[in-house]
Formats: sequence, structure tokens, C-alpha cells
Amino acid sequence: MEIERIKFEGYKNSIITADEAALLFENGMTVGSSGFTKAGDSKAVLPAFAARAANEEIAITLITGASLGHTTDSDLADANALYKRMPFQVDPVLRKKINDGSILFIDQHLSETAELLNNKHLPKIDLAIIEASSIDENGNIIPTTSIGNSATFAKLAGKVIIEINTSIPNNFNGIHDIFIPENYPERDIIPITKPDSRIGKGYIEVDPEKVVGIVFTELPDSPAQVTSIDEKTAAIANHLIHFFEVEVASGRLTDSLLPLQAGIGKVANAVLSGFSKGNFKNLTMYSEVLQDSTFELIDSGKMDFASASSITVSKACYEHLMQNFENYKDKIILRPQNISNAPEVIRRLGIIAINTAIEFDIYGNVNSTHISGSKMMNGIGGSGDFARNAYLSIFVTPSVSKENNAISHILPMVSHVDHTEHDVDILVTENGLADLRGLAPRERAIQIIQNCVHPDYKEQLQSYYERARLRGGHTPHLLEEAFSWHINYSNSGTMKNPVSVEHR
Ligand code: COA
Repeated sequence: MEIERIKFEGYKNSIITADEAALLFENGMTVGSSGFTKAGDSKAVLPAFAARAANEEIAITLITGASLGHTTDSDLADANALYKRMPFQVDPVLRKKINDGSILFIDQHLSETAELLNNKHLPKIDLAIIEASSIDENGNIIPTTSIGNSATFAKLAGKVIIEINTSIPNNFNGIHDIFIPENYPERDIIPITKPDSRIGKGYIEVDPEKVVGIVFTELPDSPAQVTSIDEKTAAIANHLIHFFEVEVASGRLTDSLLPLQAGIGKVANAVLSGFSKGNFKNLTMYSEVLQDSTFELIDSGKMDFASASSITVSKACYEHLMQNFENYKDKIILRPQNISNAPEVIRRLGIIAINTAIEFDIYGNVNSTHISGSKMMNGIGGSGDFARNAYLSIFVTPSVSKENNAISHILPMVSHVDHTEHDVDILVTENGLADLRGLAPRERAIQIIQNCVHPDYKEQLQSYYERARLRGGHTPHLLEEAFSWHINYSNSGTMKNPVSVEHR
């Protein structure tokens, strides 16, 4: 225990064990916890609550920033400790229970949770758990590797537990910028005009009267799995880099581009790494997660500054960052997720948003969340916050996956829509890039089929479009056939040769 991390005298008698903290949970409570894409999550109290719930009938609604690390969501799900979960998750055990209906899940734009809580559209937070690297002289929280919704939880919760993580260096401060927008109707602008604008405080304010316990832990964040770049992801990155080079050559962008946002997923990280090639310089990022690729770009001198809500990196990158933190202090900033993902700021800064799709259709509608229309994968995360408001909204995906290319990720109609055709500018697969700017639906279909679709599926999709076009409509479709590819995959294990080709 490093008691000197608590600089507020009033808390010195509040230190409790994780098991004691777990006893503060009550059945039916709404609990808010720090944690955003595995970073800065509760590593002692939530796991202790999961252990308690394994032997008791007790379940809570758990709201976090985004996904949790380690096996916390699995353990909570296994112990039936979750009644409802929001706003995002990536955990296989939790996912299974969400999809079998035993745990309710609300898939929410990440910028919105704090707003909904603050406007009392969601139940009041009974208990908050917030990871800290230290506590200042006034009892306020210096956060760790994420901010997420923690500032809102601290403000609104009835009771607060602070989890001090001693694996985080004691000097891990100066990169947090906590700004809480005013309540309506007194709401003012969010005064961010550049990715490095500082508008708030370096700590999360909390009323010491609400703090019911301080727990120590020394477990680091669980590392991100960084998938190495393969032929497909490299091809996608190359198409995009070429696209940006043309944008610069045509004078629409400078070689600093505009602030970048890159979503989660193996493709988005590879694409960002691709920026180390090419003639770009003084790049900036205004995103929600800083990944390995961000630090690679900073180290290579290509990126000047990066703003986000969390740092989610591999073990090697994490250790490097912690050991050399002082070198990065003036190059990164972490903000609450309703600020990192604020539509107002995204539109003002002119963000270039690059996110991964599960599938997209011939008109440019994108599904980021549901497998075959009904099974939740992870959630929409921040992709909608960025896609809707970006200067350029880009979605990437491999054109096919599974053995024998059984799945085509470009379809007649997406089985679930997260991003409508109105919000999507550019689509990229390893086969090429479709620039949808200024195109009507019929023009878009031609671009997408020509440039993005895998050769195994081109004829099928062309056939679908041609027959739909003959039937007419602004956005031609054959409704009886629109989902036949998904149905075919479910019945025969491949999307190849659905009815469209048989009926030609
Ligand atoms: N039927 C069955 N499986 C399908 C399918 C279908 N119709 N369409 C896609 N899949 C499968 C793919 O085959 C793949 O499985 P595989 O790897 O076993 O082949 C899986 O769905 C998706 O692959 P995954 O490895 O998870 O992809 P990824 O790491 O590139 O992530 C998303 C892609 C879309 C799941 C991820 O980016 C995401 O959750 N996005 C939403 C949130 C977001 O965009 N946040 C951005 C702000 S940070």
C-alpha cells in the first residue's frame, strides 16, 4: 500500500479491502464504474463483487465508460451479477448472455451516456467505483489511463469508492482534462478549437462526504491484443493512404490532413500505422482511444498531438509509456467521453473518422454491431458519434471472411443499420475504395460493386443490383431477396450462390 498517494487527510481512515467494498453493493443497484476499452477499469472491487455474487442472488445494472479489461465482465456475467449492462462491451461470456437474453444490454453512442445520466433519463447512480493514481489535498481524484464517464459518475453517484492503482506511476498526471458541460438550459459551448485545447481541470471533482471507501490495487490494465498487419489490412491501408495523397494533391487537404479518429479493430489500427508511410506530417488525432499506432506515429515524428478518452495499448507499448511518461506528457490528453466524442467538437475540428464495419450494403449503409441482424458483437461505441459529424466518414472492412470466403461483407442490404448512407463518405476493402461523395444511390451501387466487392461475389451482387434496378425506385431493392445472403449463410454455411444467381 502506498498511503502517501492519499494527500487528503479526511480519507486516511477510509481504506477498506476489496471484499469489504463488495459488501456495499445491494441487489438492484445502478453502479457506475471507470473503465474504457480495458483502460482504467476497476481491478479489485468489481472482481470482488463478482466473487460475492457467485454465492448470492444479487444483480446490478452496470454502466461503464466502455469495455472492461481482464476477465471482469466474464466473471460478472458468469456469476449472474448483471441485470443490465451499458453502453459497450467486448467480452465473449457477456456477449453470449446478452445474445441468449439473460443479460439486458443497451448499446449506446458513447458520447450519450453522461448526457442521459445528467438529464435523469437513466436511473440515478447509487454507487460509483473510480480508479485513481492518487488523491489530491482536497480529496479529488487523479485518474489513470482513461476518463470515460468517471467525472459524471463522481458528480451524480450517491456513494463513491476510489480504487487507487499503485502500478500507475505516481507522476501520471497533467494529461487529464476534465470538463463537465453545464446543465440545460444553461449549456454553453465546449470551447475546444484544436485537439490540444485544454478546457478543464486535471482531476475529477468528488464530494469527500460521498466517499465510502478507498481500496488499493496493483494490477495493471490488461493489454490490448494488437494483430499484426496482414496482406488484407495492408491493402486497405494502402488504398486509404493513396486516397489521402490525392486529396492533398487536389488541394482539399494539406499534408497535415485534419485530426484523425481511428476506431477499434484490427483493420483500423493497421490503417493508422499506414500513415507512417507517405508524406504526411504534423498529424493530430482527436479520437476516443489511443492505440499502439498513435504512439508509433508520435515516436516517428509524424504526429504532433493526440486527444482521446483512454490509452489502450499492448504490454510493450504500455511499459514504454509508463517508463517514458514525461516525454509524452505534452503530446497527449485524456478527456471525458462526452467531450472526446462530442458531436459539436467533431464537427468543429473537421475530424477524419476511420471505423470498421461488420458489413455494408450496395448503397452505403453500415452495420457495425449485429451479426446477421440479431446477435450483438460489441456495440456501436463511438463510431456513430464520429461518423455522423465527421468531415470525412470512412468505413473499412475486409471484403470476405471465413474459409472459402463464405461471408461477403458487402451485401444487397445490411441486416442492421448503425450508420445510414447519409453519414458515410468512403468505403474501403482490400479490393479498393468507393468514394461516395456527391453520388446518388444508383451511382453509389456501381462504385461499391466495382471497387469494394470480392471477385467471388461481384457477379452475384451485380445481378442483384441489375434486377432491382429494373424494378425501379430511388434505392432499388428486391425485398424478397435482400436478406437471402444472410439466410443462405445460416442454412448452408456460405453466402455464395444465393437465389439471385439461380434466378438469372
Ligand atoms: N455472419 C457471421 N459472422 C460474421 C458476419 C456474418 N454476417 N459478418 C462478420 N462476421 C464475423 C467476421 O467473420 C469476423 O469473425 P472472424 O474473425 O472469426 O472471421 C467477426 O464477425 C468480426 O471480426 P473481428 O475480428 O471482431 O473484427 P475487428 O476486430 O476488425 O472488429 C468490429 C470489427 C466492427 C466488430 C469492431 O470494429 C467494432 O466493434 N466496431 C463497433 C465499435 C466502433 O466502431 N467503435 C469505434 C470507435 S473506437
